[in-house]
Amino acid sequence: MKLVLASRNPHKIAEIKEVLASCGIQKVELLSLDDIGYSGEIAETGTTFEENAIIKASLPASMGYFGLADDSGLEVDALGGAPGVYSARYAGEPCDDAANNRKLIAALEGLPEEARGCRFVSVIAFLPPAGEGEGFTVRGVCPGRILFQGRGYDGFGYDPLFYLPELKKTYAELSREEKNAVSHRGQAMRLFAAELKKRFSV
Ligand code: IMP
Repeated sequence: MKLVLASRNPHKIAEIKEVLASCGIQKVELLSLDDIGYSGEIAETGTTFEENAIIKASLPASMGYFGLADDSGLEVDALGGAPGVYSARYAGEPCDDAANNRKLIAALEGLPEEARGCRFVSVIAFLPPAGEGEGFTVRGVCPGRILFQGRGYDGFGYDPLFYLPELKKTYAELSREEKNAVSHRGQAMRLFAAELKKRFSV
């Protein structure tokens, strides 16, 4: 099965490939929008992760492919769940990870550790092309805490600020394998893999 991930984020593509392989899914070839020659942008106009994931997955589906999309973001309790679906553009367009992290540090300035709770959310939408069955969404959640300043160099986005108290490390201090084992996207991908196996021989 050719599965087209509606993303150009190389980190996400690599993470998802690894999780699919670790779930024993061998008959899926994961392609990106570039691989199918689509160079446009997809406007993420939804107000929930589910809406945005479906909007993104419907692009490859409308071109005759099995579409897959992840919409993810960080919900910070002290900010009423922000930046949420606006995580990529928290500090404005275009997406700038360093500026987003600076803005988040400033927004939480002075808050003690116990008031810095947050969670990463990943919703994955799978949409077949017309006539090939029903689509579905799955959701993975990983709770954590926002640090006062970043730690670690791996990963992307808010990884250096996202602290996992149980592991005593940030996402940016984990190898990709370790991150996949606990992360919001890893959890959502495992749920997705289980659903896919139920419906197709992959
Ligand atoms: P999306 O591409 O619309 O899903 O935007 C997700 C945004 O949320 C990214 O640009 C990051 O800012 C943030 N994000 C989502 N997943 C992660 C992660 O695993 N680590 C760090 N930041 C993430």
